[in-house]
Amino acid sequence: MKSDKSPQVRDVFSSKMGVIAAAAGSAVGLGNIWKFPYITGVYGGAAFLFVYLGFIALIGLPIMLSEFMIGRKSRSNVFGAFKNLAPNSPWRLVGILGVAAAIMIFSFYGVVAGWSIDYIVKSVTDSFATKSPDELGSMFTHFIENPWLPIFYQLLFMVMTMAIVIIGVKDGIEKYAKILMPILVLIIIVLDIRSVTLEGASEGLNFLFRPDFSKLTADGVLSALGHAFFSLSLGMGTLITYGSYIGNNNNLAKTALQVTIADTLIAILAGIAIFPAVFAFGIEPSSGPGLVFITLPNVFQQMPGGFFFSILFFILLTVAALTSSISILEVVVAYFGEELKIKRKPATILATVMIAIVGVFCSLSMGLLKEYTLFGLNLFDLLDWISANMLLPLGGLFISLFIGWFWGRKKVEEELAKGAKLTHALISTLIFVLKFIAPAAIAIVFLNGLGFF
Ligand code: TRP
Repeated sequence: MKSDKSPQVRDVFSSKMGVIAAAAGSAVGLGNIWKFPYITGVYGGAAFLFVYLGFIALIGLPIMLSEFMIGRKSRSNVFGAFKNLAPNSPWRLVGILGVAAAIMIFSFYGVVAGWSIDYIVKSVTDSFATKSPDELGSMFTHFIENPWLPIFYQLLFMVMTMAIVIIGVKDGIEKYAKILMPILVLIIIVLDIRSVTLEGASEGLNFLFRPDFSKLTADGVLSALGHAFFSLSLGMGTLITYGSYIGNNNNLAKTALQVTIADTLIAILAGIAIFPAVFAFGIEPSSGPGLVFITLPNVFQQMPGGFFFSILFFILLTVAALTSSISILEVVVAYFGEELKIKRKPATILATVMIAIVGVFCSLSMGLLKEYTLFGLNLFDLLDWISANMLLPLGGLFISLFIGWFWGRKKVEEELAKGAKLTHALISTLIFVLKFIAPAAIAIVFLNGLGFF
């Protein structure tokens, strides 16, 4: 097996910090700050959060480690990875699933990132000032229903993503992620402080942290699972692709743990910024995809320096979205490049144009085309639901089966021993989880969520 195939032609991350910054940059994005609060609101708060945390620890972390191992061992894109490690077998179909998921996710991700760019402009022009919570709500709705402006910003975002991906892994990804993400975290902490000191904040904290498990639905549990995958960038080969750029001296287990903890903490911090304010301003926690965009402008209004904080916040949110979107696009580009032998630049442009076409319809499905639905979902929600709740968990299921059953203990031990010393107990637990627990849990939650039981 060509395990270390041409390391001199493939990019390798230059440092451990680079690996963490890039993987965390991929994981931390709109999923943490936009999607996590919005679906936690829809599915009733704390109970959803706890189930989500359970899935992160039990399923997310082991699968992240699996993706890193598959990527580093194969030094290949997601399709090629399975082709290299399991020649002449149907495992490579997992790669196809991943490329399909990447196309779907970027289609709606770009829409939301475009909203974030518009909110930079709204911040700079001081558009939130003196508006009531209701007015801020209808400002958001009017904006996303407008056919032109959201598409303009969405395409702008996609072009920025494309430009960074064309420049390449090292120069493009590492540099941006390292400096800017810590600043975003600081701003969120400032927002947390303002939010929890608002009058009526405690109701929001109760909503977020005091679980009422009777509120939990099968759909909610499936969404918690889907979001664990989405938020950690798992299930479609993003971290296989990034793993393929990780050097053999990196302690993969430690990296996976650090990235998982950082991603989860940031989601919780975002929740603490949002929910107290949601209750303090009388916003509906289940208001859907607009939750963050409606709630935070209210908070900015109520804090000293809010004008500057809001500009900075939406700029950094856009950057966080960029470091994630490059990792989504990279999956498609690496596949086009290495399997279809298209050069990097045309491959990136081709992928971006394809996704932009679907993406424009996603954006329009918020307004002009909102009557066109399937299972009661518009195109935006449909692509989100299918990718996060179906394709990613399915991808995760196959990845855990691949490592647990096809690879087996010996190869896992070998791969993890590079750059690290792990105890036998730890490896046994990992194998047990990947062999039995993760696949069973995913299968049960999946079938239950689809209404099979
Ligand atoms: N995890 C990112 C976020 O939370 C989005 C993302 C990047 C992603 N790469 C992915 C989601 C791969 C699923 C799979 O915003």
